[in-house]
Amino acid sequence: MSKQLTMLGIESSCDDTAAAIVRNDGTILSSVVVDQTTLHAAFGGVVPEIAARAHTEKMDVAVEAALDEAGMTLADIDAIAVTAGPGLIGGVLSGVMLAQGLAKGSGKPLIGVNHLAGHALTPRLTDKLEFPYLVLLVSGGHCQFLIAYSPNAFRRLGGTIDDAPGEAFDKTARLLGLPQPGGPSIENEAKSGDPERFEFPRPLLNRPGMDMSFSGLKTAVLRCRDDLVAAQGGLTVQDSADIAAGFQAAVTDVLLEKSRRALTEYMATSPSQPAMAVAGGVAANSMIRSGLETVCREMGVAFTAPPLRLCTDNAAMIAWAGIELVRIGDPGQQPLVARPRWPLDTTAPSLLGHGKKGAKA
Ligand code: KG4
Ligand code: ZN
Repeated sequence: MSKQLTMLGIESSCDDTAAAIVRNDGTILSSVVVDQTTLHAAFGGVVPEIAARAHTEKMDVAVEAALDEAGMTLADIDAIAVTAGPGLIGGVLSGVMLAQGLAKGSGKPLIGVNHLAGHALTPRLTDKLEFPYLVLLVSGGHCQFLIAYSPNAFRRLGGTIDDAPGEAFDKTARLLGLPQPGGPSIENEAKSGDPERFEFPRPLLNRPGMDMSFSGLKTAVLRCRDDLVAAQGGLTVQDSADIAAGFQAAVTDVLLEKSRRALTEYMATSPSQPAMAVAGGVAANSMIRSGLETVCREMGVAFTAPPLRLCTDNAAMIAWAGIELVRIGDPGQQPLVARPRWPLDTTAPSLLGHGKKGAKA
């Protein structure tokens, strides 16, 4: 393999069909994401069968677009990295099969990448973070704290045992009749709301450890809305804003307190350049983001959040994870099979949840 390594990345584990080309110096030559939001909009969540079909239809188009955007052909690529799990199995399979076909046809090496490792290694692509660092993955499908020790060694400190926070934002928005995705809608609605009018629960805060739970919070929002509707026949504009603000404050409190605990655990490993990164769509929330920044500052830890297009699902992170594995001589998952569940830390107790976007780990 040449010293200059050019990697094609392929991602199809959830509802984004993505292909990207990344060089080992960290240059993203192209990154194409075909999202399926409109296909699933009417169903209130990602429909696995629809997702799998859409990936199969768009995967080759996305790869061609990524090659075109980079001004390359397959001959210019040194190796192919593909998400082999965890995720919705139909989508993962379509990416793996396409990648296997491309690799066989072109004779290029193929590296099976863990989607969560893709997210967790992104701060090295964007900010050149040194190991070990702490990462919080917080999106519509994931919520976990990981210490990243190397491209293939992670320790999971805790995660959600049911819904991911993004799912809770989406469901709360639906309950309030606000548009999807729910995160930005709730954030906007909350601006004119009073976060203290309704007392929403902070689940699992009274228990030690870093596991989290968000489904009870969603039920509390449902009950609050139904009580108001029963008492006064509907919600006022102010009611809706106050519910949104109270919900957002509860999620933020949980994430910040669990982050403090995760940071304490991480600092006990005596990192030489302590750093925490956040990844995933929920990282776009300014209250959560600025709260995390403050917590990190208080604890003497550098805080970084990759740009949103690299925080949400994309294939550049998969190509980069492939590059990181090649550099340390790890061939990726062998033999390459599509896996619905694939915890990054196999020694951590399993997170049992299964959200609307597939298995939790
Ligand atoms: O990482 P992502 O694009 O996809 C996966 O879930 O894999 O994250 C999407 C999630 C959605 O649930 C969306 O509501 C949430 O991120 N989100 C936000 C915000 N922007 C997006 N949640 C809270 N506040 C936001 N501003
Ligand atoms: Zn993801």
